Amino acid sequence: MTKIHLLPEEVAQKIAAGEVIERPVSVVKELVENSLDAGATEVRVELADGGKRLIKVQDDGSGMGREDAALCFRRHSTSKLATEEDLERIATLGFRGEALASIAAVSRLTLRTQDGAEDRGTMIEREGERLIAVTDIAFPRGTSVEVRDLFFNLPARQKFLRSGPSELGPVAKYVAQAALAAPGVRFTLVHGMREVIVCPQVMTLRERVFQIFGKKMVDGLMDVAAEEGGGRIEGLASRPLAGRPDKTVQHFFVNGRPVKDRVLMAALSQAYAGILERGRSPEAFLFVSLPHADVDVNVHPAKAEVRFKDTQLVFRLVLRAVAEGAARGHTIKEVLPVVGDKGPSGRVAEEGVAWALPRLGFEPVVAVVAASGGDDGADWTAASADSQAAKGPAVLGQYENMYIVAAGEDGLLVIDQHNAHERVLFEKYREIDREKLWPRKMLLIPPILELSPSAVVSLETNAALFEDLGFRVETMGGRSYALKEYPDFFKPEQAVDIFLGLLEEAGKKTAEDRREHMLATLACKTAVKAGEPLNREKMGYLVEELFKTSQPALCPHGRPVVVRVEKSVIDKGLRR
Ligand SMILES: Nc1ncnc2c1ncn2[C@@H]1O[C@H](COP(=O)(O)OP(=O)(O)O)[C@@H](O)[C@H]1O
Ligand SMILES: [Mg+2]
Repeated sequence: MTKIHLLPEEVAQKIAAGEVIERPVSVVKELVENSLDAGATEVRVELADGGKRLIKVQDDGSGMGREDAALCFRRHSTSKLATEEDLERIATLGFRGEALASIAAVSRLTLRTQDGAEDRGTMIEREGERLIAVTDIAFPRGTSVEVRDLFFNLPARQKFLRSGPSELGPVAKYVAQAALAAPGVRFTLVHGMREVIVCPQVMTLRERVFQIFGKKMVDGLMDVAAEEGGGRIEGLASRPLAGRPDKTVQHFFVNGRPVKDRVLMAALSQAYAGILERGRSPEAFLFVSLPHADVDVNVHPAKAEVRFKDTQLVFRLVLRAVAEGAARGHTIKEVLPVVGDKGPSGRVAEEGVAWALPRLGFEPVVAVVAASGGDDGADWTAASADSQAAKGPAVLGQYENMYIVAAGEDGLLVIDQHNAHERVLFEKYREIDREKLWPRKMLLIPPILELSPSAVVSLETNAALFEDLGFRVETMGGRSYALKEYPDFFKPEQAVDIFLGLLEEAGKKTAEDRREHMLATLACKTAVKAGEPLNREKMGYLVEELFKTSQPALCPHGRPVVVRVEKSVIDKGLRR
């Protein structure tokens, strides 16, 4: 007697259905995708009891003729894919031809449809695997699918469904996501008698985000875009210094399909390192377009994950889009922390720093350039000539040898000299790194370093990176190394200390963000320290260079650089 036997068709169907249909949101997703694939301009989703009792999706798309309507419930029946080659260039949201078959297998389903070519509409009623009736009906062009009593014939599955409101949550999230991907389509989500989402047709993503998330969110977003090698990315993402304390508003779409993707998430957080305060994450609505052959959407039953052929390209696109968006305009100058003002976003209570949108007009520099302060190893190039002519906040002086006080148009600026210099140097190093122009200097007597085992590992894994940054190290056997060359940005006696610091830093970071962190550490180690007296020439240079950077308000580690004391606050204190 054999032990292996074929499963009865009915059981096989139910097992297959389980892979695609897990809960109400899976049904909604499949049906809405079908509506969009059918070219709908309007999609209406109705639920009763979180979708457990009823899910209805109605559209004004192409509809189906009588024969197609009968065929669409057969497994692997699809109008979207004909050959194996088609799998390589999937342009529709659906393609496996199993959604309707799966949904029908585990519910009581009624399909109404009309394709505009026949003079009658079709109604098909089914219950699980059974066809109940096919009827002529009057129906406008389009399709409506009603799914009742999900899992009525799979009690074990049904038991795993949560309460109505809990099942509604993911549905609302999905519908919002679908709406974001298609601003030109009207979306409605109704639960019981309540309209949960109503999004009339609009022209732009920005308007759609406004419809779903409101004005405050939209105001904090900048446009981002980048293109490279057939790939393109565009959308909206947090302005520098904006963002939120969690990662709940990060939406990614690949060729119009909402996806969860680690590469995109990692790229996004790297793109924002140093332009958001520590502990904050960006909001993002990013649309990636790639040639269909360069992305595999056929890796997940619910098609929620994708695989990129060239992840590096995708990474670069995100980094570039955000960097260029952040550098555009003067968004950073517009958002400096203010002392003694709650600011429009009222974040005082939240984190003890107030933020506002000042009109920061700068006065011409009136400070006189004083004599230079000798060679202290820090980088003060270009401090002389153009700092006199340029416009910027006027430096008034130094306070406690750590803060530079300057006059802005409507208040005083108090600038942390170390953090400011760190920002300036970081951007400069990044530029040099991009151009691969690190100036090197030889150490006349190469110091011999006895490295710890973890430092050896860090050095071996990052050999190329250290070489790039201008450090040349030769092994002397065992854990001994000779430091032969160092980047010519600091004094030779600092070289060993800085090199060891970088080694430790490199050991802690993941490959993706290591380079940026190394540059930030280098900037930190070479920047002027708190406690160092600065002359006017240096202060003038620092302030001027600071406001040329992409991000004057934050150091590369996300600490604030500047606070504003508004004139009105001073006036008030002095009863003016
Ligand atoms: N809302 C709809 N409007 C028009 N045609 C539809 C609709 N829903 C399904 N169809 C047709 O039924 C077929 C099967 O749908 P489905 O089982 O979801 O598989 P797939 O979307 O992968 O093709 C589709 O290819 C399409 O031709
Ligand atoms: Mg489908």
